[in-house]
Amino acid sequence: MKPIQVGLLGIGVVGSGTFNVLRRNQEEIQRRAGRGIEITMVADLNVARAQELVGPGVTVVSDARAVIANPDIDIVIELIGGYGIAKTLVLEAIAAGKHVVTANKALLAVHGTEIFAAASAKGVMVAFEAAVAGGIPIIKALREGLTANRIQWVAGIINGTTNFILSEMRDKGLDFAVALKEAQALGYAEADPTFDIEGVDAAHKATLMASIAFGVPVQFDKAYVEGITQLGAADIKYAEQLGYRIKLLGITKRRQGDVSKRQADGIELRVHPCLVPAKRLIANVEGAMNAVVVNGDAVGNTLYYGKGAGSEPTASAVIADLVDITRLHTADAAQRVPHLAFQPNAMSDLVV
Ligand code: HSE
Repeated sequence: MKPIQVGLLGIGVVGSGTFNVLRRNQEEIQRRAGRGIEITMVADLNVARAQELVGPGVTVVSDARAVIANPDIDIVIELIGGYGIAKTLVLEAIAAGKHVVTANKALLAVHGTEIFAAASAKGVMVAFEAAVAGGIPIIKALREGLTANRIQWVAGIINGTTNFILSEMRDKGLDFAVALKEAQALGYAEADPTFDIEGVDAAHKATLMASIAFGVPVQFDKAYVEGITQLGAADIKYAEQLGYRIKLLGITKRRQGDVSKRQADGIELRVHPCLVPAKRLIANVEGAMNAVVVNGDAVGNTLYYGKGAGSEPTASAVIADLVDITRLHTADAAQRVPHLAFQPNAMSDLVV
């Protein structure tokens, strides 16, 4: 069978990692997918640099629409980021009958409902393992591994940049600004690092996890979001003296309403700095590492730990989605894994 053909939109940090890992582990990936997977076309504004990265066998263009228009392309990987042109291109790719793989948590947290609906109507898949916690397969864990459970809560360190900054401030006494510069140089931070340090990136990811864990539509606008910009060296030091570490956590949980306080049942969705007892595993997650704890009624607590940002860790998640889609591509549409299992019910609204 001829390899499945993939078009890549944007070959930056994650795109080049995806290209390299796919080539390096070609044989294993082909065996697992049951079919070869090849990136045959790349769109990037810097054509010369992109062509140098991918070599002569791959067509490089500056116009992403040329990739979408190519009838040979089965899957489009969107690694442009942001809500603007990325949204237009993802919707155009879906309309053209392409499956989409994206690491764009911002796009899905804000416009996911529209995008998933468009994909369902067209019978194509939108996969986004790389959008949450980089290389940790947390989407798969929530959607598949823990599928028997009534999830009670999910909490974790889901932004590598802020965890890196907090670790550097504590261990090396670095200034916030210096630590942020280091995180940017290492490729952890978003193009606009405000999203990292103000907690927005973590809230995007928590929104997606809430959606899968609780079957609610994506509702980023209902999240409580607070970042780490108000924290100083003194906060970190005093927390340490009291036996705590400060961690920026993304939390989503079922909440039992309290009638006397006119509270309805609902689902909380929040991101803010937390004091975590220093003995806890999650308090010892350092640098750009991520860790997510999921509590299910059958399984109890499960912990997922790994690199939450960076080129090849994120590429690992992108390729996992490529393999999933390749396996399912020829299956009957009715058997395909749904993008998100929306189940409108009494809990369909989030509460803060
Ligand atoms: N800026 C993100 C982070 C990248 O620091 O976690 C991975 O999503």
